[in-house]
Formats: sequence, C-alpha cells, structure tokens
Amino acid sequence: MDSNTPPPPAWWRDAVIYQVYIRSFADGNGDGTGDLAGLRARLGHLAGLGVDALWITPWYVSPQVDAGYDVADYRAIDPVFGTLDEADAFLAEAHAHGLRVLVDLVPNHTSDQHPWFREALAAGPGSAARGRYHFRPGRGADGELPPNNWPSVFGGPAWTRVADGEWYLHLFAAAQPDLDWDVPEVREEFASVLRFWLDRGVDGFRIDVAHGLTKDPAYPDIEESATGLLGAAADEHHPYFDRDATLEIYREWRRIADAYPGERTFVAEAWVSSPDRLARYLAPGRLHTAFNFGLLDCPWEAPRLREVVEQTLRVLAPVDAPPTWVLSNHDVIRHVTRYGRAETSLDDAKRLYGTPSDPELGTRRARAAALLTLGLPGGAYIYQGEELGLEEVEDLPAEVLQDPNRFWSGGCGPVRDGCRVPLPWSGETAPFGFSPDGAAGEPWLPQPAAWKDRSAAAQLADPASVLTLYRSALAVRRGCEDLGEGDLAWLPAAEEVLAFRRGRRTAVVVNTGADPVPLPEHTEVLLASGPLDGPLLPGDTAVWLSL
Ligand code: GLC
Repeated sequence: MDSNTPPPPAWWRDAVIYQVYIRSFADGNGDGTGDLAGLRARLGHLAGLGVDALWITPWYVSPQVDAGYDVADYRAIDPVFGTLDEADAFLAEAHAHGLRVLVDLVPNHTSDQHPWFREALAAGPGSAARGRYHFRPGRGADGELPPNNWPSVFGGPAWTRVADGEWYLHLFAAAQPDLDWDVPEVREEFASVLRFWLDRGVDGFRIDVAHGLTKDPAYPDIEESATGLLGAAADEHHPYFDRDATLEIYREWRRIADAYPGERTFVAEAWVSSPDRLARYLAPGRLHTAFNFGLLDCPWEAPRLREVVEQTLRVLAPVDAPPTWVLSNHDVIRHVTRYGRAETSLDDAKRLYGTPSDPELGTRRARAAALLTLGLPGGAYIYQGEELGLEEVEDLPAEVLQDPNRFWSGGCGPVRDGCRVPLPWSGETAPFGFSPDGAAGEPWLPQPAAWKDRSAAAQLADPASVLTLYRSALAVRRGCEDLGEGDLAWLPAAEEVLAFRRGRRTAVVVNTGADPVPLPEHTEVLLASGPLDGPLLPGDTAVWLSL
C-alpha cells in the first residue's frame, strides 16, 4: 500500500450486522428450538446475504424466563442451544465465511438461578453474598411495603420480597435480580467474562441494558413521569437509568477490548431520552457504537425521518462515533406491520396491535426503508426475518405466548413473541425447514401458513423478492465506495421526499408520499426498491443513483 493511502476505516464503523435471535433462527436437533447446529448449517445464507457480522442473542445457560436474558452461567452454553465446543466451532466457521461475531452480554442482572443469587438467598440479610445484589428492608410497620416506588419494566413493582422479609431489586422480571455494580467483585467478574469470550475469538459484545447497571445508593422514589419503558424519560438525576457512574464502567471495558488484536468492539443497547445523551456512551475511551433507535421509533414521513438523520449525525460528529441504523429487533413490532397502517410510529403500532395492517403497503415501505438505512452513513442492523419481509404475528394464541412482558398490560397488550416466530426456510408446510424433516418437536411458536411464500428458498429464486433486494443492496453497497462510512449532503427535494448525496457521485432518494415524483438527474440507477415509473419515483419507493 502506498504510504499516503489512509488506512481503511475500522470494520465496525460501517458494518452491516445481522441479529441472530438464536432460538428462532434454525433448529438443528429437531426439538423445535433454534440452536447452534441449526445456525452453523445456515451460515451460507448469512454469507450469501452479504452482511459483515452477526450478533447472537444470549446463548448462555439460563432458565429462559426472559428468553436467555436471565443468565445463570456466563461461561457456558445452554444445552438447548448446544455446547461450548459447538460455540467454538461456530466462531471458527463464521470467521471462515468472513463473518465477525458479537455476543450478547447481560450485565445489569443475572438469573435468580445464578449461583451468586442462590448463595445470597441462603446467606441471609447483611451477608456479603447479598451485597452483590440490591437487597433492602421494606417500608411500613412490618416492612411489608417495597423499599421504594421503582417499577419493573415488565410491570408491577421492581422489588420482590424473600422469605426472611428482605426485598431485592429487579428492573425486569422477578427472575432477573439486578447486580450491585458498586461492588468490586461484580466488576471483576464481568471483566473476567469479557476476557473469557475475547479469548475464544468473539469480535465484540452487544451490551444489554447498557444504560442500567449502577443505581443511586440512596434508592430515592422516582416521579411518575420518570418511569417510562426502559427509561424513556431518564435524565441525569434518574436513580437507575443513564447515570454518569455507569459510563465509567465502559472505560475499563474499552481498555480490556483494546488489549486484544483485531478491533474488538462494543455496541450499547441504551434507551435514553435524547440522542445527545446517547453520544455520552461513545465519547473517546468509552464504547465504539450504540444502537440508534431513532428510525425504529419514527413514523414513515420524510420530514420526521430527516430530522432523525440530521440529529443523529449532529450529535455523533463531536465524539467521532459512526451512526447505526435499526428498524426492528426482538423487542419491537416488526416494521412491515408498523408501516402497513396509516399511523406508523412504534407507539402507534403498540396502540393498534392486532388491527388490520396492509402487508402490501408495509412491504413496499419496508423495502424503501432498507435502501434508506443501508444508504445512510455508518452501520446498520438487520433483524433476522427482516430480509424475508416477515411481518409481526399478532394473532398468536394466548396459550403459546412466553414473553414475561405480557404481564405488563394485564395480558392483553402487545407482547414480544410476535416478532420472534421461527424463520421459514423452505417447503410448503410448517415448520418450513426450521426444524429437520421428521423432527419430534414443533417450533416453539407456531408459524403462519402464509409463510410458505416467504421462505428463504422461495425468495432466493424470485428476482422481485425482499431477499433478493437485500442481497442486491448489500452487494451494491459493498462495491460502492461512496456508501457506508462517509459524508451526507442533502439534495433539494419535495416535502415527502428524502434525497441526499453520498460521496462523490452516489445519491439516495426516498419517496415516503403516495404520488410519484421526478428523479434527480442521474447517469444510472444502481438499485430501486420497486419498479420505477419512467423518469418518476413512485410513492413509498427508494432508489440509489449514480450521479
Ligand atoms: C433488553 C433485551 C430484552 C430483555 C431486557 C432485559 O432490553 O433486548 O429482550 O428482555 O433487556 O434483559
């Protein structure tokens, strides 16, 4: 390389990362739950799709009360998913396919079956074992009231009383006790867990509830307005979300990762009240990236989308962190379904859960949104099934639901099972290749019969499919030096249209309106999310142009 050529940007600055929700990806052993064997057998799909890396949702030993986000052993694989040997083999095979791997780290809480928590229960009040968690006496004459008014994100109080009368804190389910991050042993344990996986060759970590971790030791009551789901209303005075003290933990983690070769990286799941607060996690010496949920939250309206893009770029520039773009994940209603209704924000989707959504409209917009997110500067996340255009399954029978969050709304509101239905791979009938032929187990959630047309095999052969669009977009993006990391310059456009130039000669144009609009002058259409109308860009359609 010529010594004047700048080194290529670090891989994580514009990586496209595919979220593998392992229990629903592919089932290798036929028990109806996805596993490492299934994932290893399908690595070709992921390499063929053209993503750079995989994020694997928790695969550790767990009672699975919150689908693995309740970890009982951070250094072992749950038998339902496989073994540590299989995880090692998977890492090697993924790397051989050119795919990096991020694992999910869950530091805010353990499972109530973790040896530390069992020890804490047995050891009793005042013990060092209880000190690793947040055990407190209750209020009221007999301590019969919780220590304060903190609510669990999943509903009800964030405190549960144990037999000897003390209460312990759990910001999520009662089976997920919060650790006390002021205790040095807790910090040392997670530093050791990071090294355990870095030594095995993982390329980084997704940090679960990265805005949690430390708690105000005075345990003050909070205002009603500060109880928003995942701390939507958090500010610097919040007693458990988005506290300054938590940010310091990430300095140490960054030093640990930086001591390894190969640009190991972190992505924070931090639900914070504003993008500038997110930037704090990414200040020099802290984390590399964070999920940016701005687009996932945003209605399908050009001015609102533009505002999210501008704000994201504005707040991240001073800390020199690359943006990430996310449309869906395992916690939210899939965007095909959100976009198939007249009102399209995430809040609308929760309110309108179970009401009709037009799959044709939702898919057209989702296809355009794919070219938007993959055309923006920085990196992007693809939630498994998004590349197949899957919609939310909103009519799962009550008896199959497993999300502990269903208790949140008394069992009648949105749950997260509907975005977690096992993927369709091939064939005309369920399990659509999710499990091997003749498998003993049914998929852990039932798949809609209509998914026969959405299977990866059915779509691979179809030039008009969502899968073909994603494969083409990732191939074009990889071959186009203007896309990925770099600048964005807005181009003049109508109210309903987002138009921006990338690099020297590439443009992205997205029409969120219903009526066709003229395309800007260009030399070539690199890719379109749907058929063009001569020189016009139809409604709910996006294009990548060469100028
Ligand atoms: C994160 C995960 C979610 C989980 C919660 C508690 O928000 O994405 O699935 O329930 O943390 O660990």
